[in-house]
Amino acid sequence: MGAESRDLGGLTFVDLRDRYGITQLVFNMDENAALCEQARRLGREFVIQAEGVVRERSSKNPNRATGDIEIDVRSLTVLNESKVPPFTIEEDTDGGDDLRMKYRYLDIRRASVQQNLIFRSRLALETRKYLSEQGFIEIETPFLIKSTPEGARDFVVPSRLNPGQFYALPQSPQTFKQILMVAGMDKYFQIVKCFRDEDLRADRQPEFTQIDCEMAFVHIEDILNTFEGLTKHLFKHTLGLELGDFPRMSYDDAMRLYGSDKPDLRFGMQFVEMNDFAKGSGFSVFDDAELVVGICAKGIAEKYSNKDMKDLTEWLQRPQIGAKGLVYVKYQEDGSIKSTVGKYYSDEALQQWAEKFGAQKGDVIFVLSGEAEKTRKQLNELRLELGRRLELIRPGDFKPLWVLDFPLLEWDEEAGRFFAMHHPFTSPKKADIPRMMSGDHETMKSLRADAYDLVINGAEIGGGSIRIHDKELQSKNFDLLGFTKEEAEAQFGFLLGAFEYGAPPHGGIAFGFDRLCAVMNGQSSIRDFIAFPKNNQGRDMMIDAPSPVHEEQLQELGLEVKAGK
Ligand code: AMO
Repeated sequence: MGAESRDLGGLTFVDLRDRYGITQLVFNMDENAALCEQARRLGREFVIQAEGVVRERSSKNPNRATGDIEIDVRSLTVLNESKVPPFTIEEDTDGGDDLRMKYRYLDIRRASVQQNLIFRSRLALETRKYLSEQGFIEIETPFLIKSTPEGARDFVVPSRLNPGQFYALPQSPQTFKQILMVAGMDKYFQIVKCFRDEDLRADRQPEFTQIDCEMAFVHIEDILNTFEGLTKHLFKHTLGLELGDFPRMSYDDAMRLYGSDKPDLRFGMQFVEMNDFAKGSGFSVFDDAELVVGICAKGIAEKYSNKDMKDLTEWLQRPQIGAKGLVYVKYQEDGSIKSTVGKYYSDEALQQWAEKFGAQKGDVIFVLSGEAEKTRKQLNELRLELGRRLELIRPGDFKPLWVLDFPLLEWDEEAGRFFAMHHPFTSPKKADIPRMMSGDHETMKSLRADAYDLVINGAEIGGGSIRIHDKELQSKNFDLLGFTKEEAEAQFGFLLGAFEYGAPPHGGIAFGFDRLCAVMNGQSSIRDFIAFPKNNQGRDMMIDAPSPVHEEQLQELGLEVKAGK
């Protein structure tokens, strides 16, 4: 399908596209004028059937897999005509996002989108192969459930048979996979849709897919090894790449050295904390700050003009990032030092800074200061932006990393309560359990969890934890998270109950399948790896959903119909 004709003297050429590529058809005016006329009337995206002789092309097209051959056509049938498509079906399409989504069936005809979907299918197949070889069984869990708190809002579904009551679509199969462990299915996996009503971004869809896994009788090490193995298998069998052993970093180190719990290790520029040597010189911005911290960019001192510095400062001062200002020190090739804080620091002092950063002639140190958490986040943004601007990232480079030892709980000042950093079923580290059972409020902030994230190229690909399998400890955690006994019982009684019937120690992980597809293909948006994605407003542009339903439907569901709506 996808015919398009062009004429050249007595010859007419038609590009015929199908899932396997583009093939050139040739019609010769001298040999069969009627057939040639018929070919000239073909429009873009017509569906045709052609018979002819495959032959070697005289002028080959090395850019196409089928560019060495053509078909000398002897008969042609039009199976269906097509309207002129609303955008060009080529790599560099002129279609905007919403238009492409509205006509997704045309968009999927483009080779790049097709390749993405084919890749996704191969990735799923290889996932199943690896996990079943490791003894995992794929078990489906229900979609109509009670809410599972993973930190987002639930999508709810009204129940006709139980008026006024609602199911929730699973944010993940978390509680079910834990129940399966209690049920003795000691290695579970599922490639499964999850639903989260949260703000959407390039790497977030309201319905997305996880490779969801759980294992019983395991320690962290077993899980990390099994799923590092899965990741290596997937890279090897889809991209042909051998990944080395994954480095590991604690959450605290990730925050201290990169200001992020998902550092992109494809380039350097680790943070250097400067409180010890930058404070106390009368520069009040630094003196009054909780943290002074910087990064060193290699070899840009001459390249980066005052205007570039101004640009970068303004970029950092945008409300999305909110830095107050940017201090920099340029170590010029001629040995001189140019800086925005020369008034407060002698050249000797700035030379000492260079030593702390390992900076040499030609390098620039960028420094931010302020409240510690905020400043780290801002410097993380600056580091990533410099990585982009200075083109420090090699295409095709993959840098996986395990981030370990996350805090168990996060204090939310505004809400005045703790939230689970991973989810409420995550176990504290064994050594921290006594402190958790008897400690005060401040102690709770310092508890560490047996939780881990898999990060690749700065994207959170997966997350998991060792679970609590003891009723007492789980009740304590619910208590810390602000659930009353009654609320915990009403929402999770089934799980707490199951823990009373011989629950084995267990743990697991879930990979974001769409994200893994995108990152493995060097892309940041997951949309083009999903056949029918939603736009940023959560709309499916093709079927035009969500949409109102009939009043009768609402009544049948026992839902109130507001007058005038
Ligand atoms: P978590 O919430 O970390 O863990 O999710 C696991 C992975 O799923 C991906 N992900 C998403 N991908 C696309 N769109 C979204 N809206 C979205 N939200 C999450 C991320 C993330 O790392 N039940 C736990 C897992 C466990 O503990 O075993 C869970 O769901 O790549």
